[in-house]
Amino acid sequence: MKIKNIWFTIAIACTFTNAADISWSEAYVKAKVAVSKLTDMEKVTLGTGTGSGTCIGNTAAISKIGWPGLCLQDSPLAVRLAHNVSGGISGINTAATFDRDLVRQRAEDMGDEFRGKGVNVQLGPDVNMVRIPESGRNWEGFGEDPYLTGVMGGITVAGVQSRGVIATAKHFILNEQEVDRTTSSSEADDRTIHEIYAWPFARAVEAGVASVMCSYNKVNGTYACENDETLNTILNGELNFQGFVQSDWGATHAGANSANAGLDMDMPGADAYWGSSLTSQVEAGKVSEDRLNDMATRILAAWYKLGQDSGYPNITVNDDKIDVQGNHKQTIREIGAASAVLLKNINQTLPLSNPKSIGIIGNDADSANYGPLGCTELPCLSGTIASGFGSGGSYYPYLISPESGIKARAPNSTIVKTSLSNLNLIAAVQIAKSVDYPIVFVNADAGEAFDRINLNVDTFGNELIEAVANYNPNTIVVIHAAGPVLMPWVNKVKAIMYAGLPGQETGHSIADVLFGDVNPSGRLPYTLAKQSSDYPAHSTLDPNVKYSEGLLIGYRWFDAKNITPLYEFGFGLSYTNFSYYNLKITTTPSNVTVKAQIKNTGQLYGAEVPQLYIGFPKSAQEPPKILRGFNKIKLQPGQKKTVSFVVDIARELSVWDTPSKSWRIVHGTFDAYVGASSRDIRLQGSFSIQT
Ligand code: BGC
Repeated sequence: MKIKNIWFTIAIACTFTNAADISWSEAYVKAKVAVSKLTDMEKVTLGTGTGSGTCIGNTAAISKIGWPGLCLQDSPLAVRLAHNVSGGISGINTAATFDRDLVRQRAEDMGDEFRGKGVNVQLGPDVNMVRIPESGRNWEGFGEDPYLTGVMGGITVAGVQSRGVIATAKHFILNEQEVDRTTSSSEADDRTIHEIYAWPFARAVEAGVASVMCSYNKVNGTYACENDETLNTILNGELNFQGFVQSDWGATHAGANSANAGLDMDMPGADAYWGSSLTSQVEAGKVSEDRLNDMATRILAAWYKLGQDSGYPNITVNDDKIDVQGNHKQTIREIGAASAVLLKNINQTLPLSNPKSIGIIGNDADSANYGPLGCTELPCLSGTIASGFGSGGSYYPYLISPESGIKARAPNSTIVKTSLSNLNLIAAVQIAKSVDYPIVFVNADAGEAFDRINLNVDTFGNELIEAVANYNPNTIVVIHAAGPVLMPWVNKVKAIMYAGLPGQETGHSIADVLFGDVNPSGRLPYTLAKQSSDYPAHSTLDPNVKYSEGLLIGYRWFDAKNITPLYEFGFGLSYTNFSYYNLKITTTPSNVTVKAQIKNTGQLYGAEVPQLYIGFPKSAQEPPKILRGFNKIKLQPGQKKTVSFVVDIARELSVWDTPSKSWRIVHGTFDAYVGASSRDIRLQGSFSIQT
C-alpha cells in the first residue's frame, strides 16, 4: 500500500488547539482579507527583517491592517538577553526526562515568559539530531532518536503555542555540525532525510508549528534557504506546513531564488536580497504575484492563528522591571532532578543517607559567572555549567551551584569539605583521604559555532577524578555536559550521575537526587561510547558533510555493527527495581497495541521508563531496532501498572520509498521489544502486518 500524504492526514487529526488558537483555514481567511489591502512593497515588508531593533529579529509595522510588526527572540530554553526571566532547562535534559507531562509544563512556562515579554516568535524548539558526538549544539535539541525528538518537539510546540506564542522548529535541515556550518553541504539520501531528519519537523508541523527556520548549510549542494526540494517539496508539500519559513540569521543568499524555493521571511534583514530588492524582482516578474501573496498570507496567518491580533502584550524584552518568572523555578528544579541519569551505583552507594563526611571536589561545583558576561553567551571558563553558550542560552536570574545546593541539603551532622579547583590535586587528594564519600564534579561545555575538539571532560577533569579515585574507593562522579563524554576512569568509581545541563536550579536538583529526595529516573537521550571512534560520524572539515551512515544514527549504528557502548541509549538506573511481565500484542487495520505490566519490586517509590522498540522484517532494510514508544510510570513499592504503546501502522511501520517518493507500509513479521533501555530488553514478541 502506498500512502503519499500520511503526514498531511495526520497533521489534520493531531493539530492541538488552545483558547486563542484558531484553525489554519480560519487564519488563512483572515490573512487573505488583510493581504488584499496591501501593496506589493507592503507585502514584502511583512517578511523583511529590519536589520536591528529591540529583539533579535524585528519586522516593521503596517498600521492600515493593524499589524504591529513582529518581535522574534531566542532561545529554545528561555527568553535570551533579557532579565527577570528564567534560566531554563536545556532541550537535551528535557528529552532525558522521557516525561511528556514535564515537557508540556516546561513548554507552557516558556510560552508564558515569551508572551509576558511581548515576544511574538520564539526561536525554538531545536529539533536537529545528535548525529556527531562533538557538535556544539547537541544540547539544544532532544537527542539522537527521531521518534523521541519528534515527540518532545511536538509537545514543546503545542505547549508554547497554547500561550499564543509562535514557535519555530529549527534548523531545517541537516544542520548537525557547527564547523563550517555556513559553507558546507550536508549530503544525505532521500530515505535518510525522510525517516530521520525530517521526521521531527513533521511532528512539529502536526502540532501546529507556525514557523520553521531554514538552516545555514547547503543540502545536497543547494543552500537550505533556497532549496526547492526541502522547502517546497518536503516541508510545504509533503508535510503540508501552513506557517512561514524564516531564514537563519544571514542564511539567505538570494532574493528571487529563495522566494521561489519557499522562503517567506529574511532574517535579520537589511541585506541585498529582500525589501526593495525583492519588490523589484516581483515587478520584473522574477517572483510571481501568487508567491508574494502566499508569503504574506503565511506570515499573517501564523499571527492570526495564535490570536496575536488581539490583546497581545507590548514588547518588554529590554524592560528589566517586567518579571515573567512566575513559579517556574519549581518546574526547573523538578526537571533538573528528573533528567539526571544514574549510570552506575555499586553497592547502593547512592542515595547518601546520613554520611559522616562528604567531599565536594572540582570547579564544576562552584558558582559560575552567570551574568551577561559569561557562561551563556560565551564559553564558561570557570564554575558549573547549567546550559551551553551562544544563541541557545539565556541569562540566569540566579544560579544555585552544586556546592550551595549540597550544603543546603546535607544533614547537619555531615562534615562537608570542599576543594573547588580542578588543578589543585593536592587539596583534592587530601579531601579524598579524609571523607567517606568524595563527590567529584566535572563538566564539558559547548555552544554555537564551535564543535568540541574531543570528547573529554574539560580542564583536566579526568586527571582530577583519577587522583581522587586512587585514594578513595567510594568516589562519586557528577557530570554536567553539553554532549557525550568519554569515561576512562569508569571502573575506578562507585557511582556516576550524568546530570546534563539542568538550568538555574542545578544545585538543588542534584542534591535532590544525591540525597534520595527524588529517585533518579532520567534516561540517556544519546549513546555514550567506550571510545570516540565507535561513533558513526564526527565533525568534519570536508566541505561535503556526508551522512553516509544513512539510517544508522546513534544506537542504530551500535546495534547494526555490534559495537558495545559504554552506556546505551535509553539507559538509566533507579534506586529501586522494576520487573516486566505479560507482553500482549493486538492489531487492528490501523494500529498495533503493545501492552506490558511493570512492577516496582524494590523498596522505594520511583519512576520507570519502559520503551518499545520495533524490529522490521529484513526486507525493509531498517536498522535492527527502532524506538516507537515510551512511557514514564510512577510506582510505589510492590505496585504494578499496565503500560500500553499504540503504534500507528501508516506512520510508524512505513518506510520511505525513494523511487515512488512515497511512504510504503512494510508487510511481514515484526518484532516488538519492550525494555528498560535499547539494550536491556525484558519482553519480546512478534506480530504481522499483511497486505
Ligand atoms: C542561530 C539561530 C538563532 C539565530 C538568532 C543563529 O546564529 O543559528 O539558532 O536563532 O542566530 O540569534
